Order: sequence, then C-alpha cells, then structure tokens
Amino acid sequence: MKKVDLSIDFCGVKCENPFFLSSSPVGNHAEMCARAFDAGWGGIVYKTLNIESSFKIVMPSPRLNAYHYNDKRFVGLQNAEQITDRNIADNIEDIKNLKKNYPTKVLVSSIMGFNDDDWRTLAKMSEDAGADMLELNFSCPQMARKDAGHRIGQDFNAVTHFTEVVKKNTNLPVMAKLTPNITDMIPVAQCAKDGGADAIAAINTVRAITDVDINNFTPLPNIHGHSGITGFSGAAVKPIGLRFVSELFNSPTLKLPISAIGGIETWVDALHYLLLGGRTLQVTTAIMRYGYRIVEDLIEGLSDFMIERNILTIDELVGKAAGKLIDPSDFSTRFQVVSQIDENKCIGCGQCFISCQDGGNQAIKFDSETRKAEVDESRCVGCLLCKHVCPVWDCVSHKEVDTQSEKHAAIF
Ligand SMILES: Cc1cc2nc3c(=O)[nH]c(=O)nc-3n(C[C@H](O)[C@H](O)[C@H](O)COP(=O)(O)O)c2cc1C
Ligand code: SF4
Ligand code: SF4
Repeated sequence: MKKVDLSIDFCGVKCENPFFLSSSPVGNHAEMCARAFDAGWGGIVYKTLNIESSFKIVMPSPRLNAYHYNDKRFVGLQNAEQITDRNIADNIEDIKNLKKNYPTKVLVSSIMGFNDDDWRTLAKMSEDAGADMLELNFSCPQMARKDAGHRIGQDFNAVTHFTEVVKKNTNLPVMAKLTPNITDMIPVAQCAKDGGADAIAAINTVRAITDVDINNFTPLPNIHGHSGITGFSGAAVKPIGLRFVSELFNSPTLKLPISAIGGIETWVDALHYLLLGGRTLQVTTAIMRYGYRIVEDLIEGLSDFMIERNILTIDELVGKAAGKLIDPSDFSTRFQVVSQIDENKCIGCGQCFISCQDGGNQAIKFDSETRKAEVDESRCVGCLLCKHVCPVWDCVSHKEVDTQSEKHAAIF
C-alpha cells in the first residue's frame, strides 16, 4: 500500500506534518505542549511571550464568550485574552525543556515587544532556548496597551521596523502574524517582507461582538458591567481566513510561505487551507473545544484523501485551488445554469418553493396536494438558492446552458 508523506519544509524547518497549535492557551506551558506533541502535532507556536518588567499582563475575566447559533453550540469563540501572563524566565525554561525532550518537533516562539529592546531580547532569548522559528505577534486585538497588538499590525512603518529589529538580532526564520482587522492584508504583509520576514501567519482573531444580555443590556462577556469588541475565532471565521490566505498566496509580489490559521476543525478544513495556499496549519479553538486528539483525525483524514487521489506529498496540494480565484468582474456570463430537482429524492417539504418565491426568481411550481416541486426553466436564473435550502443534500442539482445556443432567463 502506498504511503503518503505529510512532512513539509517551512522556511528551511522540517515539519513532520503541517499541523501546529497556534499561539494561545492551548500552548501555555511545557506540560501542555508535551501532551500536544505526544498526541501527534508536528509543531507548536508557543503562547506569545512578554517581558513582564516592560508590561505586566493581567487578564480580564470572564475572558471568553462562546457563540452558539440555534442548536449548534460553539460555532465561534470570543476572547478577551492577552499574551502570556507567565513570567519570561519560566516560559524560556519550558521552551528549553521542550526542545530537549522533543528535538524533532517544531517549536515556534511567538513574541511581542513594546519597544526595540523588548523585541531584541525576546528574539535572542527564544533562539538561545532552542526555538526553531519566531512568530511576531502584530495582531492581538485586545492588548491593555494602545501601542501594541493589532494596532501595530495596522501601522505599516512599525511592522517593517520591528521585523527589521528582530531580523538583525536572530538567525532564525521569522514569521509575521497579521491581523484580519484591515481592508487589505497585502500591503502590510509586504511591509513585513521589506523588514525581512520569511513567512506570514494569518489570521489572528476577528474583532467582534458575540452576544448581548437582553436582561441588563450588556454585551458579553460581561466584565464587571462592561464588555468590548474583541477577538473572534473558530469555525465561523474560516471563510474569512480562507480569503486572506488565498490573497496572500496569490499576490504576485509577496511570494512568502503562509502558515494558515482560522477555524480549522476537520481534515477537510485543513485541506481547504492547503489548497488555497497554506503550507502549515495552525489551530486553537477546535482544540479548546475537543482537545489535542483532534490531530488524529486531521492526520488520518488527510492521509486517506491523499492515498485515494494518489497524491503523495503535501507540496502537491499547496495552492492548487488558489489559481481558480479570479476577480468577480472577470466571471463568465455566457455559461449559465438552471436547477434540476430529482423527484425520486424530493420529500415534498416545499422549502425550495418558499425560498425561490421570496428570494429567488419565482421559478418553482409547487403542488400542495401532491407536494411535487418542479422547476420552470424559462424563469430559473440559476442562483441555486433552492439547492442550498433543500434539506436533502443531493436532491437539487443543476445543468449548464450555453446562452449562445440556448435561451436563459438571466439573459433578457
Ligand atoms: C483564548 C485565545 C487566546 C489567544 N492568544 C493568542 C496569543 O497569545 N497570541 C497569538 O498570536 N494569538 C492568540 N490567539 C489567536 C489564535 O492563535 C488564532 O490566531 C485564532 O484563534 C484563530 O484560529 P482558530 O480559529 O483555530 O482559533 C488566541 C486565541 C484565543 C481563542
Ligand atoms: S435556481 Fe434560483 S431561480 Fe432557479 S429555481 Fe432555484 S431558487 Fe429559483
Ligand atoms: S426543498 Fe428539496 S425536498 Fe423540499 S420540496 Fe424542494 S426539492 Fe423537494
């Protein structure tokens, strides 16, 4: 039987698989990281380091609020957490021990300084402790300082400057972790590259509000009577993450490897990110929800998929779908589609009729006696709303129409 190779080279660092913990409480200290390595993760981005003499971190609490949507729990997670509140000596000792005990695993030290000296010191201490790479945190959206985190990540000169400061003081490859709380990530990624960055990590959390307590009119999490617009992560942010990762990958000038982050829960999520340009994949929220063992499914699912497709290396997947993204102004309009309902699969619920009536082009006829749904092709504009609302997954399909030879409702 063929064996797939999940290993990948990232900025010259050999990773046994592309699956990493992203910097967060899931990689807070050595004992946790050791359990993650034992579970099978190829690498860890350690919880962002801080020099407490420069700025003492005190976390607000409660610091989390989960976003539940109807019956689906934990679709996303809002957090008000900052970088590590552990002291630098303990963290550095932990990194040293981890590298001693797990020499073949990859340990990335995430760092955040508040001045040149901090960045220099954190880079040097991480390198001396044996870290394989550095990740520069330009993206935490809830630092208790106004000159830090995602505000730095929106200040192009600061991104270039601090990246340069770090690069001059380390031999390690350096990744800039960027914020999605910006209209366009390419210019700031380019600034990181100008400062010498070897790779980009994206995304950090999306600034958001997940809930409001309607009894006391206070958004959540309720932190002693107040709340804030803070970082949102998990499955709900995956579409935003995919967007940024593909844009970074497709940039004709950037050409840096990407460590992809945002809502990865299953091997299919992982595959999506690889296909759109991620080389390594980082995870937090799904681990907070399900634990380190999700890596077993990530590895097994991706391996099985690759074997089935005769794809033997991760490199063969990276960016393979990214080239299919074009500007919406370039979409073909000559080829249109019309929907088709499989009458053997239809359960006669009428949902497609309601949606097409009130949100489509009134192209479905529905007989309330026989409960039969039928598409009127002369009215169907091919939006496929009916397919997306149908509760039977493969009941509604579509066929393509070449408008040069056939009439179509979208071409008047
Ligand atoms: C509770 C919590 C704490 C986090 N702390 C950090 C941090 O210290 N440094 C950092 O770069 N990112 C931090 N992040 C962001 C994650 O590393 C990651 O970028 C984000 O959660 C999106 O990935 P996910 O959807 O897999 O969680 C934190 C996220 C969460 C949920
Ligand atoms: S594709 Fe759109 S217009 Fe056509 S039947 Fe479905 S909902 Fe109606
Ligand atoms: S939504 Fe699907 S199952 Fe329901 S009537 Fe329409 S085609 Fe049939």
